[in-house]
Amino acid sequence: MKVFHISAECYPVAKTGGLGDVVGALPKYQNLLGIQAAVIMPWYDKPFVRDHKFEKVYESEFKQGSQFYSFAILKETTNILGFEIYLVKIPGLLDRTEIYSYPDESNQFIAFQHALLKWISDQNIAPDLFHCHDHHSGLVPFFIENAEEFKSLKGIPTLATIHNAQYQGWMGWQQAILMPSFDSNKWGLLDWDKNINPLASLIKCCWAYNAVSTGYLKELFKEANGLESLFFSEKEKGYGIINGIDEEIWNPETDPFLHKNYSVRTVITGKKSNKKALCESYGLDLELPLLAFIGRFALEKGADLLPGFVQELAQKFTGKINFIVLGSGDIHIQEALTHLREKGNTAVIIGYNEKLSHQIYASADYLIMPSRVEPCGLNQLYAMRYGTIPIVRSIGGLKDTVTDLSKNKANGIVFEEVSLRNMVQAIKRGLKLYEESKVFNKLQRENMKLDYSWKSSTMKYIQLYENLINRL
Ligand code: ADP
Ligand code: GLC
Repeated sequence: MKVFHISAECYPVAKTGGLGDVVGALPKYQNLLGIQAAVIMPWYDKPFVRDHKFEKVYESEFKQGSQFYSFAILKETTNILGFEIYLVKIPGLLDRTEIYSYPDESNQFIAFQHALLKWISDQNIAPDLFHCHDHHSGLVPFFIENAEEFKSLKGIPTLATIHNAQYQGWMGWQQAILMPSFDSNKWGLLDWDKNINPLASLIKCCWAYNAVSTGYLKELFKEANGLESLFFSEKEKGYGIINGIDEEIWNPETDPFLHKNYSVRTVITGKKSNKKALCESYGLDLELPLLAFIGRFALEKGADLLPGFVQELAQKFTGKINFIVLGSGDIHIQEALTHLREKGNTAVIIGYNEKLSHQIYASADYLIMPSRVEPCGLNQLYAMRYGTIPIVRSIGGLKDTVTDLSKNKANGIVFEEVSLRNMVQAIKRGLKLYEESKVFNKLQRENMKLDYSWKSSTMKYIQLYENLINRL
């Protein structure tokens, strides 16, 4: 079985968050089970992209509106990733330094999808199934069914993974002229609320969609940034296969980024060495419990609570806890945190830093995730694998993967509401647990042994592929 994953990110070639992690791991585990799973993504002019070796496998051009673009398909040649990866390079459009947030982003992703489908249909290399990830590849199912240019691909099954329905790729109808020409009677399949909405089109046109956790699948029917009624009406196609983690990369025994590697057996001394190095680098107190936040400064992540929390720490928790924040995003949150960074035992690192994120998972005692929306969440899984106790809000994938101390099979601390009060109460429960070091260490060890691998979810995805392909 041959499958093409289409995504804007894939670790280690390009990543801003969990999408990159998932698309960098799932195909690897699928290949181990005999599926030929390859990834197609845009080329970015980033140092880590340039670090890989590529060969040009195809060159052509396409028309977007009145403009012709030439493009190339580059294949990664080192074969170290465990799957094939192809990058679509479109000079002047898809060869920039950032992954997202350009004013012409919709042109970029229309062009990405146009170019990759042209390559696949021209070269006669159609897969058995297209696996689309989020809105960046949301137009693929529509194009293969309705664009004359890709009629050789018509009828190929499509699966959508919805990593985050908050972002939908909205664009005005004037953008339609930038698309490969399609059967104009079918415009309704692109439309949502009088705009072109690639995520809505993906849900309408795909054969099945997966919501990265069963909790998130249910939430999408009630709250999906305006698409709830669509998710609900298409619910027969909906699945909730949860993400796993790449256990080769996220392994404290072998992780090359750590100051000291450790196992379940050596977790106490191992974490202490990592914590010592981190505390020395960031002026924190080794003797205090260390709480961490890693992630995007977005409302979804509840990051707006962080500045208030830092103030509260300085006023009421002096000498009780260290707090380290690594992230970037909303400028107001960023500025407020930068302003407060000297307060109490707090370190704030603005930016994206893969190595430091691993070091924080290894050093911290607790990881806080006060998310408003969390389709799956990988941070809490990495935390547990590194013996760090998650403190999470009960939502989406967090609800599915973290069980509160008060319950059977507890692995973390769970709170209900996104409020400073609730978050502080949960952290206080954490401080109490920290004092009972035996119970705390037992929990750390049990969490490290939990199975959050891709094993079972890879099988579920393959089963779903088979069902869709056999439906033909
Ligand atoms: P999301 O994809 O919504 O951002 P996830 O929990 O699925 O959330 O995944 C986030 C991923 O991005 C994790 O691998 C996390 O460690 C990483 N990450 C987030 N922010 C940063 C940062 N500032 N520096 C390094 N890694 C980060
Ligand atoms: C998204 C979600 C996150 C999920 C990730 C990978 O970015 O916000 O919860 O873990 O995708 O599926």
